[in-house]
Amino acid sequence: MSSSNSKPIRLGVCGLGGYARVVLKMLQAAADKFEPRFELVAACDLDLAAHGDLTPVLKDRGVSLYENYAEMLKHPALDVVWLPLPIQLHAPYTKQAVAAGIAVICEKPTAGCIDDLYDMIKVRDESGQPVFISYHTIPHSACVKAKTLLMEGVIGKVQHASLVASWPRHLQYYNRNNWAGRLKVDQTWVLDSPMNNALSHFVNLVLYLLGSSFDAWADPCWLDVELYRANKIENFDTVCAQLKNCNKTTAQVILTHAAKKQFGPELKIVGDQGVMWWEQDRIRIARHGEAVEVVYEHGDDDIAMRLSLVKSAARFIYGMPADGVSYTTLESTIPHMKVVCGASEATPVYDVPAEFTYTYDDPSNGPAVAIKGFEEVISACSDGGLMLHESGLLQFAKPHGSIDLTDYVSFAGPAEYQAISTNG
Ligand SMILES: NC(=O)c1ccc[n+]([C@@H]2O[C@H](COP(=O)([O-])OP(=O)(O)OC[C@H]3O[C@@H](n4cnc5c(N)ncnc54)[C@H](O)[C@@H]3O)[C@@H](O)[C@H]2O)c1
Repeated sequence: MSSSNSKPIRLGVCGLGGYARVVLKMLQAAADKFEPRFELVAACDLDLAAHGDLTPVLKDRGVSLYENYAEMLKHPALDVVWLPLPIQLHAPYTKQAVAAGIAVICEKPTAGCIDDLYDMIKVRDESGQPVFISYHTIPHSACVKAKTLLMEGVIGKVQHASLVASWPRHLQYYNRNNWAGRLKVDQTWVLDSPMNNALSHFVNLVLYLLGSSFDAWADPCWLDVELYRANKIENFDTVCAQLKNCNKTTAQVILTHAAKKQFGPELKIVGDQGVMWWEQDRIRIARHGEAVEVVYEHGDDDIAMRLSLVKSAARFIYGMPADGVSYTTLESTIPHMKVVCGASEATPVYDVPAEFTYTYDDPSNGPAVAIKGFEEVISACSDGGLMLHESGLLQFAKPHGSIDLTDYVSFAGPAEYQAISTNG
């Protein structure tokens, strides 16, 4: 697509429930703020009747409505589709669109496994169509500022990142569809987890901030990992991982959906001359021997934070130069996908025994399951650089599994599945 005309980019959104509602708000908020701009011309959901609050509004705006994605792709004036869809549809629906000559904005995470990601790259290359991955933290000004400062050496040579986040998720979160918390749906890997869904933004951000140049993501080469589930799900709701990257940086990541207190993401980058804290609304730095300094603050609300994604996606689809942000391409998300698949392959998911959990009732979200005292365990492990089992604070914790990710290109299946196939 040429950058020389200012025709709007004609967009179709597939999926109208869940996160798609935020996508529609983002598009509305972006409206005429940026060039090039998106024009919504088509929308699709399996069940349009379930979105009766929205469909008349869309129809009034001249948006064509579909219950079948293949039909939407035949719309005579479609430049790009945005796919806020279940993870298992990301790869097949991306491939279908680009094969039909239509560009794609695919929601994060890119796919349910790395093989699907490589397949998306192959089909995209055959088609020549652009594919953009919707990680809104990357084009946001706080990330641009953080990466710029790191590249300028503000904390010296970057050595390590630590990420912790406790985002409670209730039973209704896991019951809202047929793929939440699942390993696989039908024959397609989903690997839905904090690391491959709600908190994937920040794992991806860690890898980006540790990358050796402005547009580079760090490439993980070794992973130690522990996985647990307090909820009755197939995959995990709690993870502790330690990563070594090919550029010699390291990272520790502790994420849970099974604690009562919400906190984080707390992201700390350690350099040989100081420390940087990236927070949702500001960046702080402490150079060795100096006081902590706030070097960047913004007052963006949630939608405003996501506007940079709309702008960045539009420029990318239009074929314009990156304008001071890094574009999140399919290739940019290979490091994240290596970590997600590697974790699943390296260790089984262990159940947290019932005596170490409790159920609480949240007035707005209903019942939820939490691991007793997990908030304190997170602090102890992140402060001490410990794996969960090394803390001695969780009696149920098991030694971590490990995997070499140096030349990792294909997912062999979760450790549980491998054990089953090895044992016949
Ligand atoms: N970028 C972010 O901050 C962010 C936040 C939340 C979710 N997400 C991502 O958005 C995606 C969707 O998540 P969700 O929680 O909204 O999922 P969901 O399952 O709750 O909703 C998906 C929607 O897609 C529709 N749908 C399902 N199959 C379809 C098909 N074959 N054709 C057309 N429509 C279909 C469903 O009817 C539903 O309305 C996921 O990839 C998730 O990771 C991104």
